[in-house]
Amino acid sequence: METRVVKVPGRKPLGRFREISGPSRLQHWDIDTGVDEEAIKHLKEAAEYLKTSDTPVAFPTETVYGLAADATRSASTKGIYTAKGRPSDNPLIIHVCDLEMLRGLLVSDPAREPGEDADPIPSRYKPLIERFWPGPLTLLMPNPKPSRLAPEVTAGLPSFGARMPSTSLALSLIKLSGVPLAAPSANASTKPSPTTAQHVKHDLDGKIELILDGGPCPVGVESTVVDGLCDPPAVLRPGGVGIDELRSCPGWENVVKAYKDHGHDGKDAAPRAPGMKYKHYSPRARVVLYEATCKEGSGGITPSDAELARIIGKGENSSTNGSVAANGKHLRRIGVIRTQRWGPAAGLPNDNLHLAAGEQNGNNDPQQPGTSYDVLEGNLVDDTRGVIGTILDIDLGRDTRGIAQGLFSALRELDRRGADVIFVDGIDDEIDIAGAVMNRLRKAASEIRT
Ligand code: TXA
Ligand code: MG
Repeated sequence: METRVVKVPGRKPLGRFREISGPSRLQHWDIDTGVDEEAIKHLKEAAEYLKTSDTPVAFPTETVYGLAADATRSASTKGIYTAKGRPSDNPLIIHVCDLEMLRGLLVSDPAREPGEDADPIPSRYKPLIERFWPGPLTLLMPNPKPSRLAPEVTAGLPSFGARMPSTSLALSLIKLSGVPLAAPSANASTKPSPTTAQHVKHDLDGKIELILDGGPCPVGVESTVVDGLCDPPAVLRPGGVGIDELRSCPGWENVVKAYKDHGHDGKDAAPRAPGMKYKHYSPRARVVLYEATCKEGSGGITPSDAELARIIGKGENSSTNGSVAANGKHLRRIGVIRTQRWGPAAGLPNDNLHLAAGEQNGNNDPQQPGTSYDVLEGNLVDDTRGVIGTILDIDLGRDTRGIAQGLFSALRELDRRGADVIFVDGIDDEIDIAGAVMNRLRKAASEIRT
C-alpha cells in the first residue's frame, strides 16, 4: 500500500460553532465551504474514504496526530488495531465535532424527540465541557445498550472516551464524515506519539493510504482522560489539561489520580485506563531521566562522570550506531534534552558544539512560531583519551508548554540521529501540563535518577 501525505495547511478557520456563546455554544459545528476550497476538497476526499474504506486515515489534532476510522463500523475500527499493532483490549477515544453528535451516542434511540428525556450528558461534565471543550480533554461517557459504536472501540468496557478536538481541520473532517471518529495516536504501538505528519509516515508507511498534513501539533502531548462517572472523579491519564485546572471546576475539587507514575511521591494508584499499563513512548535509544527534585550530592543533577564512564566504558561495544575510531574505541552518540536546569551539553566535556547538519526537527513552519528547536552537534571529549563520542544537544527552553510541545519530537529526532542514550532534564510535575510531560518521560525512561 502506498502512503500519500496530503498537505492541508488550514491557515484560516474552516468552520465555526453556530452559536458563539450561551447554552448552545458547542451544539453545531458548521463548515465554511468558501473560505479555503483547496483544504475542504482534501477533507471531503478523506471523509469519503473514511466512510467507505476499512483502512484508517491519519489527521492532526491540537494534541498529537490521530489515526481515524468510522467508530460505528467494526471493520474500519479493526483496521486501526491492525495498522498500529495495538492490543485489542485497549479502547479507542471517540472524536465528535459538536454536542449534537455526542448526544446522539448517549441515547439508544437517536430518533426520539429532543427534550423527551433529560440531557444525556452527565451533569458533572458540564463545567469541564464549558471550560475546556473543544480541547485536550477526554471524558468517559456511559455507553448505552444498544450502542451505535462498534464493540471494538470500547474493548468491552461499559463506557467510552469522548473528545472534541479544537482545530477547525479536525472538527471539519469529523463533520464531513458525518460519523464519530475513533482515533488513537497515530504512532506504531509503544513509540512516542507523533506530532508531525513525518512522524506518522515514519511509523506507518505502507500500512495506511492517507496522512493529512496540517503541520506540527501545538500542544504536543495527548489529552487528559478523566472519569466523572465514579466518586470521587479520577484522572486516568494526565495530558493537555492540568490537574490543578480540573480542581478549579465545581464538582472536581477532589479529583484523584488513578494512574501509575513511578513519581517521587510514591503515592501511585493502579492504572484504570487500559492503555496506561503498556510500555509506551519509547524511542530506540536508552533514556535516562533526571527528576527535578534530585539534589546535587544525591546522584548529581547532571549526568556524572561515573555515568558516562559506564556508558562509554571500556570494552562495551553494544552500540548499534557508534562508529569505531582509529584507536579501535567505540564512539558513542549521546543525546541531551535540556529544559530548565542544564547548560549546553548538560555540562559534559565537549568541543566544537555547532548547529547539526541536515533537516532540523521538521517543524520549521513560519506560521507556527515556537514549534521548532535546533539540534547542536559536537564532540564528547576526555582529558586523556581525546574525542570519545558525539554529543547531540536539544534545548526545549524553560516554558512547560514549549517543553510539552517539543518533547515527543525531540525523542524521535535524537533516535533518527542515532543516539545510543538520551539524558533528559526533568521538570517539576506539580504545575499544569508538566504532569503529563513527566508521566511520558517516566514511561520512556529506562533509568530514573532522583
Ligand atoms: O490527545 C489524544 O487523546 C489523542 C488524539 C489523537 O485525540 N488520542 C490518544 O488516544 O491519545 P490513545 O488511544 O493513544 O489513548 C487513549 C487512552 C488510552 O490510555 C486508553 O486506554 C484510554 O484512553 N481509554 C479510552 N477509552 C477508555 C475507557 N472507556 N475507559 C478507560 N480508559 C479509556
Ligand atoms: Mg497513544
